[in-house]
Amino acid sequence: MMFTLITGASMGIGAAFARELAGRGHHLVLVARSGDKLKDLAQELRKEKGVEVEICVEDLSDADSPARVYEFCHTLHGTVDFLVNCAGLSHAGDFEEIPLSRLEEIMMVNMMAMARLTRLFLPDMVERKKGTIINIASIGGLQGVPGLGLYSATKSFEMTLSEALYEELKGKGVKIFAVCPGFVDTGFFERAGHNKTNLRLPMSGVDVVVKAALKGLEKNRIWVFPTLIDKVLAFSQRAVSRKTVVRLAGFFAAVKDD
Ligand SMILES: NC(=O)c1ccc[n+]([C@@H]2O[C@H](COP(=O)([O-])OP(=O)(O)OC[C@H]3O[C@@H](n4cnc5c(N)ncnc54)[C@H](OP(=O)(O)O)[C@@H]3O)[C@@H](O)[C@H]2O)c1
Repeated sequence: MMFTLITGASMGIGAAFARELAGRGHHLVLVARSGDKLKDLAQELRKEKGVEVEICVEDLSDADSPARVYEFCHTLHGTVDFLVNCAGLSHAGDFEEIPLSRLEEIMMVNMMAMARLTRLFLPDMVERKKGTIINIASIGGLQGVPGLGLYSATKSFEMTLSEALYEELKGKGVKIFAVCPGFVDTGFFERAGHNKTNLRLPMSGVDVVVKAALKGLEKNRIWVFPTLIDKVLAFSQRAVSRKTVVRLAGFFAAVKDD
């Protein structure tokens, strides 16, 4: 049996991927720390969509957790041919004020776990000449965002790695690309200490991101910008100076209350 592995599946965009892909008949392995939320979602999807759903409760900030996720998948009678790296977190505020432990956590989840899981599952996909990896990055990865410097840097990492692998994997039957949403209405901001009522751009819904990602897969995109605003922001960068790009990114994110 083929499985789709989704990290960050307990809520937000990851849970929306789980619902959409289950509706398309994918059997799922769901990863996050919130075991109760994963259990509820798994039950819902088994009942309503009739697919197999396994849960794997892991803290992806632990360096060994990607290997445990890989081992868990090997104990199932099947293979993972579709991976959605969606787990991620942010922390709003000036870089000098981020607690060191939080800095580590953000880098471990957003970069290390994503890269390790990709590295672990990729060889099997290449061997079978079949696979898909969708990395949920952010439009914030297109430039440094004042107030979200570390977060934006981790998302740049994700975008850069994804585009290099997109090219490396051409002709090998495996697709990989990064999805770069703007602001999406989830609990992400609250968890980051970022007051979302300050945001100076509209937020989209989780389903917009998922639909755009799956359309991007069909169209073989290297990066996906889900909304028209995301596309305009990404492409208008070419027309203005780097200083302006960075200043505007900080203005739109409006991390500080003043
Ligand atoms: N919301 C936005 O505006 C936005 C915009 C662009 C990109 N994104 C990206 O989209 C992805 C999903 O964000 P979201 O908006 O859906 O946020 P969310 O609602 O906060 O969901 C984040 C998910 O990541 C999981 N996660 C966080 N830390 C983890 C850890 N240490 N170990 C395992 N899982 C962990 C959470 O599960 P547990 O807490 O249960 O572990 C949760 O399932 C992130 O990569 C984010 O950077 C979001």
